[in-house]
Formats: sequence, structure tokens, C-alpha cells
Amino acid sequence: MSIQNPLAIIILAAGKGTRMKSDKPKVMNELAGLPMVNWLLKTAESLKPEKIVVVTGPDMKHLEEAVKPHITVIQETRNGTGGAARIAAEKLGAFKGNVLILLGDAPLIRKETLESLITARQGKDIGLSLLGCDIRNPTSYGRIVLANDSGSVVEKIVEEKDASIEEKKIKLVNTGAFCVDGENLSKWLQQITNDNAAGEFYITDLPQIAAKQNMKTTAAITHDQTEVQGCNTLLDLAALETTLRLRLCGEAMAAGVKIIDPATTYLHHDTKIGAGTLVEPNVFFGEKVEIGENVHLKAFSHLEDVTIAKNATIGPFARLRPGTQIEEGVRIGNFVEIKKSTIGKHSKVPHLAYVGDTTMGKDVNFSAGAITVNYDGFEKHQTIIGKGVMIGSNVNLVAPIEIDDGALVAAGSTITSDVPADSLSIARDTGSIRQGWAKAYREKKRKKKK
Ligand code: UD1
Ligand code: MG
Repeated sequence: MSIQNPLAIIILAAGKGTRMKSDKPKVMNELAGLPMVNWLLKTAESLKPEKIVVVTGPDMKHLEEAVKPHITVIQETRNGTGGAARIAAEKLGAFKGNVLILLGDAPLIRKETLESLITARQGKDIGLSLLGCDIRNPTSYGRIVLANDSGSVVEKIVEEKDASIEEKKIKLVNTGAFCVDGENLSKWLQQITNDNAAGEFYITDLPQIAAKQNMKTTAAITHDQTEVQGCNTLLDLAALETTLRLRLCGEAMAAGVKIIDPATTYLHHDTKIGAGTLVEPNVFFGEKVEIGENVHLKAFSHLEDVTIAKNATIGPFARLRPGTQIEEGVRIGNFVEIKKSTIGKHSKVPHLAYVGDTTMGKDVNFSAGAITVNYDGFEKHQTIIGKGVMIGSNVNLVAPIEIDDGALVAAGSTITSDVPADSLSIARDTGSIRQGWAKAYREKKRKKKK
């Protein structure tokens, strides 16, 4: 059945989330770097509703910002999900169509599932539909009591706190998503009372209220528990993150990215990776990471605000910090840190190095233990390295400094002034050798010890 009626969406998000033990509004907790409520909004927007109204609390300016340009209404007193829905419905006014009510703390629900929930409400005598899920451990969820065991008609929802021992055994739970006939919604919400164990206005009273007007409630069922997981505790938050991680990795893999272990691949919501790229386990992607095709990201690398062009190899154990641009075919090896720098085509920084505030040309070799000394305790300074330069091991390039094309900086040098093209720069003690000295020293020490 196609979805014909106009659609409005209400998102309940005023709860403080006291079980999360934090001052932050619960729905502002991030999943893959994006607030939970914004994940839900993305899905809500994909249904192309006429309006989205988000219910927030009185002290939640950040939340209001995060959900813009959608309408927000403030629930001054948090008196329950029914109370929250009531003020949102007032804002909507008489809405001829379907009103989808979603919980801001159950953000991973899929578009297709919501479409089936809306479809389930179609039919003359169906006042509302709700989304149920059969779950193994239903503790803390509201339980759905069906009118008869085989059908999808709902008699009522019983919250955990009000459930009898028998009702607690029910495994079909209320996921919190409802689809209600817009014209009846406000009227029905007015009839909700707070006569229950929590003393709150429960939206879950709607099926019984609709029944009084001879309107039925049907249950649409999802069998995917992970999409309806609610978030009430920090442990729930971690579970949602795991679900989302697998989902994001799945999308990347469908686009041709080879991910060895999705369980330990931490994609950010805005990560972009080209086809043919191989991601080894335990790679962390912070915000604004863009990776080209056929890149090899080796294990335990940490990337934030960085672009990497095709055919580069990164890691293992590389740390690429904000403002870094890695060009085609570059090789970055283990224990290398790069910050706010450009590494030119086919250059190599293969081991144990720090490169900061640097523009490096193509075909450079920046050897083990070499670093740019970019900070004088007050300010950051630039290093410019031309093409084809060879920086030896354990070199300090004290910035600001420019090493011109084709120059060679000898190992162990501390370089404080510019190096001209194709020249050798060497700044270290030439050293000396004393024949037999070590042997004589050992003998002297041994004698003394005896
Ligand atoms: C709710 C449902 C329960 C369902 C579960 C699914 C009710 C009474 N219970 O319980 O049947 O199984 O979700 O996850 O609806 N909120 C407000 N204002 C309030 C109270 C809550 O906006 O006054 C918002 C919260 O921000 C949250 C959502 O409503 O996003 C759900 O509230 P929460 O307290 O988490 O309800 P649950 O106990 O999880
Ligand atoms: Mg909840």
C-alpha cells in the first residue's frame, strides 16, 4: 500500500536523561560524531514530511541549535511522553494526515520500518499504529498486550513499572514509535491521565483511549532489535555506537571499501572512502576524513580532518592530525605524526617522525627520527621542503626554514638556516676514533671492581 496522506513528525527529546549521569541533554550524545537526535532527523527528513516538531526542555539551547531549521517547542515541566506529545500536537494544530511520533533516544530506526508503520495505520477504523519488536530481554520496555494472540490488534501497552508478573513475561515491546491520525491526536492526548506508578502522562495510554472511540490500534513489527534500541544509559549508548558502526561499515563495503574488521573500524558520520581502499583493524576516523581510491590504511592508525589521495599507504600506527593533505602514492609508516602539512606525491615518511606546519614537495624522503621543530614556545613556524629532497635520520629542521629542491640534509644534523637547491647541509660533530680505548677502559674498570 502506498503512503498517501500528508505526514508530520514529532520527536520527543525533552528528557534530561538522568540515567546517563550527565548534564548534557540525552539526545545530544553523539554517535559516530553526530548527536543522536540528528541521526533520527536524517531518517525523519528522508520521509519528506510537511513539518517536523522537536520537543525540547527549558535549558537546552544546544539542542535547539542542533535541530534547526525544524520547529522546537519547550516542555516546561517534564511530565512524561504524553505531556511532551501534547504540546507538540498543539503546535501542529489540526493536521489532516498521519502524525509520526518518534522518541529522540531511539535514533537508529530505519526509513523502511517507519514506512511500514505508517502503512499499518491505513484503514478506516484504525486510529493509530505502533512499532513493536520481539526482544529476548524486554526489561525496562513497555510491553504490548495484543487483543488476541494471533492478530496485530493492540489492546494496551503496559509500562514496566505498572506491569504484573504475567505481563512482564511478554517479549513484544513498544519501541516508542507511533503513527496517529492527525485529526484525533490532540483530542486523545488531552484524555491521558497521570494515574500510574510513575505519576507521569504516558503516551502509551493512546491505544486504550482510541479504543473508547471504537478506533483500533495495530502493531507493525520489526524483527531487527538493533534498529529500535533505546538509549537510557551509557551502556546503551555504547550498544548504539556498535550498531551504527556496523551499519556505516556495511555501507562503505557496499561501495567497494575492503574493511577487514567492522567491529574495530571507527568511521565518523562524514567519512568518505574511495573504492578499492583497504582498511585494516583498529583504524579510527575522526571528523572530516576523505580518502581516495586504493589507499591502504594499516592497523591502529588515527586520522582526523585529513585528505588522502589515491594509492597512498598509511601506518600501521600513524597519526594524521587536522589540516593534513597526503598526495597520491605517498607512504607514511609506523609511529609517524603529521599535523597541518602537505606531503607531495610519492614522498615517504616511513618511520618515527614528526612533520608539522610543513609543505613537502614530491619524491622526498624524510628518514627515521627526523622532525620539524615548528614551535618556539610561543608561535608555530613553517617548514618548506622542495621536491626530491633527502632528509637524513635524526634531523631537526628548526622552523621557519626552507630546504630547496634536490638538497640533502645529513643524518643527525640540526639545521637552523635555509638550504639551497642540490646542496649538502651538514651540522654535526665530525667525531673521532680512539683505537683500543674501549678495551682499555673495560680492563681498568674490571680491575677496580675486583
Ligand atoms: C519509553 C516508553 C516505553 C518504550 C520505551 C522505548 C513511555 C511512557 N514509555 O520508555 O513504552 O518501551 O520508551 O525506548 O512512553 N521525553 C520527553 N518529555 C518527558 C519524558 C520523556 O520529551 O517528559 C522524551 C525523552 O527525551 C526521550 C523519550 O521521550 O527521548 C522517551 O523517554 P524515556 O524517559 O527514555 O522513556 P522510556 O523509559 O525509555
Ligand atoms: Mg528511553
